[in-house]
Amino acid sequence: MVRVSILVTCVISLMFVVLTDHAQGLGVNWGAMASHPMDPSNVVKMLKDNGIKKVKLFDAEPATMKALSGSGISVIVGIPNDKLASISSAYKHAQKWVKENITKYDHNGGVDISYVAVGNEPFLTSYNGSFYKTTFPALQNIQKALDEAGTRQKIKAIVPFNADVYESASGKPSEGQFRKDIKSEMLKILGLLKSNKSPFFVNIYPFLSLQQSSHFPKEFAFFDGTSKPVRDNNHEYTNVFDANHDTLIWSLKKVGYQDLDIVIGEAGWPTDGDKNANKILAKKFYDGLLKKLAKADGTPLQKEYLEVYLFGLTDEDQKSIAPGDFERHWGILGYDGKPKFPMDLTGKGNNKMLKAVQGVEYMEKQWCVLNSDVRNGSILQTELNYACSQTDCSSLGGGRSCDLDLQGKVSYAFNSFFQSRDQDVRTCNFDGKGTITKDDPSKGTCVFNIQIYSAGVRHQVTYALSIFAGLVLMIFSH
Ligand SMILES: *[C@@H]1O[C@H](CO)[C@@H](O)[C@H](O)[C@H]1NC(C)=O
Ligand SMILES: *[C@@H]1O[C@H](CO)[C@@H](O)[C@H](O)[C@H]1NC(C)=O
Ligand SMILES: *[C@@H]1O[C@H](CO)[C@@H](O)[C@H](O)[C@H]1NC(C)=O
Repeated sequence: MVRVSILVTCVISLMFVVLTDHAQGLGVNWGAMASHPMDPSNVVKMLKDNGIKKVKLFDAEPATMKALSGSGISVIVGIPNDKLASISSAYKHAQKWVKENITKYDHNGGVDISYVAVGNEPFLTSYNGSFYKTTFPALQNIQKALDEAGTRQKIKAIVPFNADVYESASGKPSEGQFRKDIKSEMLKILGLLKSNKSPFFVNIYPFLSLQQSSHFPKEFAFFDGTSKPVRDNNHEYTNVFDANHDTLIWSLKKVGYQDLDIVIGEAGWPTDGDKNANKILAKKFYDGLLKKLAKADGTPLQKEYLEVYLFGLTDEDQKSIAPGDFERHWGILGYDGKPKFPMDLTGKGNNKMLKAVQGVEYMEKQWCVLNSDVRNGSILQTELNYACSQTDCSSLGGGRSCDLDLQGKVSYAFNSFFQSRDQDVRTCNFDGKGTITKDDPSKGTCVFNIQIYSAGVRHQVTYALSIFAGLVLMIFSH
């Protein structure tokens, strides 16, 4: 009996090792730009339900950090770009940030923090150099403060860069080099990363390669092979993800830092807001990526497993759409924590859905739509422009989930506005042109959402109630 159970235990633990090994390098980015965030403890439970063991945050929001405490999930904590100036200007600001946002959680039963991400894509071309001078000194101050706080090199400071920090004129990885305008600060950062044995974090987006150039061969954005691979010395590239990754390896090599480890800080595919952003292409991208990660065969220049953080966890309706409307649709889960398409994190290609976030509460089943008798085109256009200036309309348009006529668009925008304002009846007026209905106006792929109760609002209500109760008690006790 004893022998049998030992054998069973061995087999089970072996299976466990084999099963978990695939997902070893896999993490997810958890952004916080949603107007109605879910309760972070429900989100953490979902991460555990799905076997996700690593997350990357963009800040250190206390409720999120609290929810992650004791979860065993490894966490990258972020410092937003707008804090870089202050942290770079005085060491004491870095000390304060570390004390408040790292030391507080760095204990047994606290948060298992792996890295501090200093800034987010600070050298992005479209930032026009705004964070050019502050990134390195901020990184230096944070690493020093971490060391002084006694994290014993366990927690390392890194900088997540966009892949636009390097380029290759011909598209061949071997011609890769860091962008000239950022090179001298980049060299300082590389030196610091190396002396700390910290990895280089890079965000790689085949979707953007496709979206930004009409000449980009579509199949090169995915992992199913191509009739026109890129040949480079003795290597053949069949997808832009590998080519981009190896362009970084070459860029590092040319400045003497080829031994830095590379982590993919973000990789993903959006599902709406662009003609190439939909669930079918997103599934195709993730199927290919996850299968590739499971095989652990890396890229032509780095034949080993890759550490990747998917982007992102949920849709975020308050993200800036300056780069494009797709920005609000990167979630592998929707705004309400439901999976959008089948996804097998083990890379075995099983056609199953991720487990959804539990405990999400929806508002009443009602929608705001346009009164059917409004037909004047110029009035409709005015209403559409107004509503869309106040709410999220990024799903509207040709080739997107909501390809509607003008009246349909106005209804969509009215509903989006109404839901975003927590179904307040006054926000479905529109000078008498709006009306509340109980009939779901959703059509085909175009879903008219029902908003969820946001964790924050519920907390505020409870807080307000307890203050009120406190006041009542005070009045009565006097
Ligand atoms: C700690 O992080 C939070 C959330 O990102 C931020 O609001 C706060 O200002 C940070 N603390 C310091 C001292 O900068
Ligand atoms: C960068 O410069 C462009 C062109 O001058 C401008 O449109 C944009 O707003 C600038 N962005 C930032 C973040 O300063
Ligand atoms: C539509 O509305 C505009 C603005 O109120 C008005 O000037 C125009 O005459 C209307 N058109 C029709 C066909 O009623």
